[in-house]
Amino acid sequence: MPAEPRRIITIDGPAGAGKTSVSRRAAGALSVAYLDTGAMFRALAVRLGRGGHELPEPAIDAALAAMAFSLDGSGSDTRLLVDGEPLPESARTEDVGSMASKLAVLPVVRARLKLAQQALGRTTDLLAEGRDMGTAVFPDAPCKFFLDASAEVRAARRVGQLAALGRPADYEAILTAIRSRDDQDRNRAEAPLRPAPDARIIDTSDMTEDAVVAAIVAAARGASRHA
Ligand code: DC
Repeated sequence: MPAEPRRIITIDGPAGAGKTSVSRRAAGALSVAYLDTGAMFRALAVRLGRGGHELPEPAIDAALAAMAFSLDGSGSDTRLLVDGEPLPESARTEDVGSMASKLAVLPVVRARLKLAQQALGRTTDLLAEGRDMGTAVFPDAPCKFFLDASAEVRAARRVGQLAALGRPADYEAILTAIRSRDDQDRNRAEAPLRPAPDARIIDTSDMTEDAVVAAIVAAARGASRHA
């Protein structure tokens, strides 16, 4: 008998919309594994180093072919491993995000990572978070979300997060970086950032994180009851 299809929930949205913390918590509440696909693009950016997007395509393809992605644990404790190792904290900076965004334009990168993401989705029930989860990677997922917030709100949140870590942050510089990454992610030819036609759009600008998690968990539970 063919295996039951896995339960997939997708969350897409621009940088700084709060996807990562919301997705991790929602995955815990829904008892599914959590996949941060941005971390896969960041891992490649770290491996190739600065200017990696300008390397010849076969070199990028070979680097990707040599990377093994796996998930360890479940729910909010799920960890993405690359060659058995978690992503270093240093991969979380805006600088690496911008390098990842430049790599994400390349068809060879999108094709390889899409296959790796779909393979992970066959191993476990999954909440997958990124830019094109609902549109390109898991178009048949029964439950899709798109989290949005204005660039100004997202920049102010980032400044708050950095301040909480005791790190000084320049609001204008962060706003400019967010706008430039938005522009790159929304206007690329392949799998651009946009809501799937059947995604629930949640504008998080005036919502607390708790409220966003609650809205996602309630809608996902409702969708699985009606599936
Ligand atoms: O979510 P993040 O900031 O960690 O993502 C880093 C970059 O990776 C993002 O700017 C664009 C790219 N990305 C993508 O193109 N598709 C995804 N599904 C996830 C990330």
